[in-house]
Amino acid sequence: MQTPRRKTPPLFSSSESFSSNSMKAAIGGRKGANLPVFAAVVLILLFGVVMYNEDIKSRAEFRLSTSRPSRTQLIIQQPEVIDMLPQETAKKEELQLGNYKKEEDPPNDDAKTYNNQKDKDREEEEQKIDQIMAMEDQEAEESGIELPPEGCDLFTGQWVLDNATHPLYKEDDCEFLSNQVTCLRNGRKDSLFQKWRWQPRDCSLPKFNAKLLLKKLRNKRLMYIGDSLNRNQWESMVCLAQSIVPSGKKRLSRTGSLSIFKIEDYNATIEFYWAPFLVESNSDNPSMHSVLNRIITPESIDKHAQHWKGVDYLIFNTYIWWMNTGNMKVLRGSFDEGSKTYDEIERPVAYGRVLRTWANWVEQNVDPARTTVFFSSMSPNHLKSTDWNNPEGIKCAKETTPIFNRSGPLNIGTDRRLFVLVQNVTRSMKVPVNFMDITTLSEYRKDAHTSLYTVRQGKVLNQEQMADPLKYADCIHWCLPGLPDTWNELVYTRIISRS
Ligand SMILES: *[C@@H]1O[C@H](CO)[C@@H](O)[C@H](O)[C@H]1NC(C)=O
Ligand SMILES: *[C@@H]1O[C@H](CO)[C@@H](O)[C@H](O)[C@H]1NC(C)=O
Ligand SMILES: *[C@@H]1O[C@H](CO)[C@@H](O)[C@H](O)[C@H]1NC(C)=O
Ligand SMILES: *[C@@H]1O[C@H](CO)[C@@H](O)[C@H](O)[C@H]1NC(C)=O
Repeated sequence: MQTPRRKTPPLFSSSESFSSNSMKAAIGGRKGANLPVFAAVVLILLFGVVMYNEDIKSRAEFRLSTSRPSRTQLIIQQPEVIDMLPQETAKKEELQLGNYKKEEDPPNDDAKTYNNQKDKDREEEEQKIDQIMAMEDQEAEESGIELPPEGCDLFTGQWVLDNATHPLYKEDDCEFLSNQVTCLRNGRKDSLFQKWRWQPRDCSLPKFNAKLLLKKLRNKRLMYIGDSLNRNQWESMVCLAQSIVPSGKKRLSRTGSLSIFKIEDYNATIEFYWAPFLVESNSDNPSMHSVLNRIITPESIDKHAQHWKGVDYLIFNTYIWWMNTGNMKVLRGSFDEGSKTYDEIERPVAYGRVLRTWANWVEQNVDPARTTVFFSSMSPNHLKSTDWNNPEGIKCAKETTPIFNRSGPLNIGTDRRLFVLVQNVTRSMKVPVNFMDITTLSEYRKDAHTSLYTVRQGKVLNQEQMADPLKYADCIHWCLPGLPDTWNELVYTRIISRS
């Protein structure tokens, strides 16, 4: 039962920018007074305001421990190095090339004209052969891709160390990465976190192939919609796709809430739309959204959703912005009318209302024959090292390996109630939705966060800040290359599996 309390927002409208006082209060603040819902709720509130890309981005760190429903257990084994060097493939290619190897002309000084003509013919011949080979390459590429059987659970499995195939790209090879995520450049010394491959229990993910992805995206739009974790994943996808595109044939642009990466030769775009709650909220400004007092209108989505129409691949998420308070503030009326009164509603109740609004929009506006819809489950945080039995740790700082202890289910503070809601809503929809269960596999990756190797107000952390991980380590976002690449390998698998 919800018994809404009436309140007037103290930090509403014009005060979207933050003051250093409110920031200090938030950073040091420990909230507990407003959380009557659960018996065992501890909520530590930590706000950081990060400025990058001429933006002020806000991020909230939080801690919520609740007794959770039991969950499927994941089998994690000690890391094993799997060597998957593509030697055999390489040999095969060499053989094929051998078939087309051109013969050396015998020297003939007297037949210049004849030879010129012959050169021309040969050039033409070679061009034809090149074309044929290109086509054969493409066919080989596609027939060579082994798709996992339909119905294989891609989300249950284990992390295996596989430095032959991962990382899928190098940090320095992707000019489009924001400073927020370039951990090595920002001073991180260990790079093992880049070398893990997700191995589903009952099948394997197909090898990532940028050309095949771009072929599928030709004349199409792929759009991520949601919060900074979806932006994290979008940046990863941009890097995965851009590797085979020559410079000058790709560009990044931004208009309002929409960032668009365009690949010219394929007429393909990979886009990100900022809507941290999916529905309208007071945090929708893409560059000034550091609002401590977050308020949503759970039934209003059209203002954002008009930008999602006709897109071929839609990937939604919403989680982190829900997590700084136990209750959600829900506006009475609308932002346009200047309403100032809100109710406080339990997080899962408000989340359910938002999901219903979102689902209705999808049902009414998405043509499943044209558009593929994804919804990503929650990206977890690693804020308390005793959760993985490391009393010496400080949040996720200093973690360099995934969690391997499988003697019990993990409980690192993820609000699984929201997971169940998304699962339920997406299952009951007429438009099929790919529910991407990235939560459990990501919970094992305490090593993969940006931690201290990120930016704050546009700058890499200074030594003083580096020395205070409890305050400054970002254990929400992820380094790139890194974990979000795996999320995209899962998306990629779905995209190339559809004919
Ligand atoms: C992968 O790791 C092995 C064992 O540490 C090492 O010998 C090898 O050089 C590495 N390969 C790459 C491509 O980094
Ligand atoms: C380019 O892609 C857009 C967006 O998918 C599409 O509407 C348009 O028709 C495409 N242009 C061509 C020439 O195919
Ligand atoms: C593994 O986890 C269990 C319970 O979660 C804990 O009791 C045990 O000490 C852990 N083992 C190690 C080696 O961390
Ligand atoms: C999810 O759906 C199941 C079956 O329809 C139902 O029993 C359960 O109460 C639902 N859970 C939530 C949180 O809506």
